[in-house]
Amino acid sequence: METIYIETYGCQMNFADSEIVGSILKEAGYGFTDELQDADYVLINTCAIRDNAEQRVRHRVRELRAAQNRRPGLRIGVLGCMAERLQSQLMAEEDNVSFVVGPDAYRTLPDILVRVREGARQAETELSTTETYADIEPVRFGSNGISAYISIMRGCQNYCAYCVVPYTRGRERSRDPKTIVDEARKLFDQGYREVTLLGQNVNSYACGDVDFPGLMDAVANVDPRLRVRFATSHPKDLSDKLLEVMAAHQNICRCIHLPVQSGSNLMLKLMNRKYTVEWYLDRVEAIRRAMPDCSITTDVIAGFSGETLEDHEATLELFRKVRYDYAYMFKYSLRPNTYAARHLADDVADEEKTRRLNEIIALQGAIALENNQKEVGKEYEVLVEGASHRSKEQLFGRNSQNKVIVFDRRDAQPGTYRRVRVEACTAATLLGQLSD
Ligand code: SAH
Ligand code: SF4
Ligand code: F3S
Repeated sequence: METIYIETYGCQMNFADSEIVGSILKEAGYGFTDELQDADYVLINTCAIRDNAEQRVRHRVRELRAAQNRRPGLRIGVLGCMAERLQSQLMAEEDNVSFVVGPDAYRTLPDILVRVREGARQAETELSTTETYADIEPVRFGSNGISAYISIMRGCQNYCAYCVVPYTRGRERSRDPKTIVDEARKLFDQGYREVTLLGQNVNSYACGDVDFPGLMDAVANVDPRLRVRFATSHPKDLSDKLLEVMAAHQNICRCIHLPVQSGSNLMLKLMNRKYTVEWYLDRVEAIRRAMPDCSITTDVIAGFSGETLEDHEATLELFRKVRYDYAYMFKYSLRPNTYAARHLADDVADEEKTRRLNEIIALQGAIALENNQKEVGKEYEVLVEGASHRSKEQLFGRNSQNKVIVFDRRDAQPGTYRRVRVEACTAATLLGQLSD
């Protein structure tokens, strides 16, 4: 049996896709290994969101030459968003890559591997308007047996000016809700206690007459002991109806990831985000009205085209107003062929981008710490996930708000719900003790 080693970069959706790829190739008779030196094929599932994500992959591909010298039959394939963006150009530039397969073409992998074994080189990067891999049951490689991803839609057509995703993942399409609910039920029956529904903009999920709130309701009804999370919500589509459904189900987690990108209306307009700061703050208020204990997290970009000090200050001001529990913070990275690359100047100097980013990071760090300090003394239901990396005597889990809590092990078991009282914290973690 030939064996495959898969490496995944990028967002949760890429990790979910690697599990679909795993399933397609397992079905075709391939085995999988965690040891590079045993592999006949290395598949690298890549991300193209920022230049540094692509540079990491280039570096990795070049580094793999050494493994190929030790094992001459070893073939390398590049999958995912970078494969889609660069297509056969990637094979021209990296001559040790034998095949390139885009996110909608994974069903061609078994055929490609056979041809590649015979010495061919091939690129399959056709995008689809219908492919959702709905019938494929992912192999849960990366899984702890407790928490799993379920892909509910693919693609994105929001065309934010800076973003490469509409070009690498194609048109938006939603997966048949029945297959989603069935997958959630099956996972619950296998012992899983948490599912995360994934899409680039889950709020615009639509399949027949089922919208995203309807889908959430159906998945939440699988079992009250199954936690349901979702990512990502676009602020323009965050509806009151969704908030009502969330509030009505205790097992839908009290955590909303709501990427803001900038606190300046001028930047939001240039970014083509289709909402204003006022709209965004209204949505934040609506969340807090419906679920006062809901955590809110975000993504932000520092130094987008034309960003002035005033725009940057507006972002800091928004962070002070919303007081996020967590933020993913990035420096703007120009992506070829996007609207911004074609029409806007990348005119904030790199050192200045870094300076602004560091200012946001410092502010957010202070806010996260203050938010966590307010948690001390509170008690939460925690889904226990596993051993903490600090010590074997301690376990960690998450509360509904998605905050990590570390506590002494005692009789607690991974995969169960326990009550934990928070006694101390850092900016990133809560520390507590079992209280049930
Ligand atoms: N679909 C999600 C985000 C997907 S990409 C959404 O719309 O919210 C994840 C994050 O990467 C984005 O939210 C954005 O903050 C960041 N990002 C995307 N393109 C970028 C670029 N060209 N430079 C820097 N950050 C970028
Ligand atoms: Fe990119 Fe915007 Fe689509 Fe998110 S919504 S994936 S940022 S184009
Ligand atoms: Fe990266 Fe593609 Fe996800 S560009 S962030 S892996 S959708």
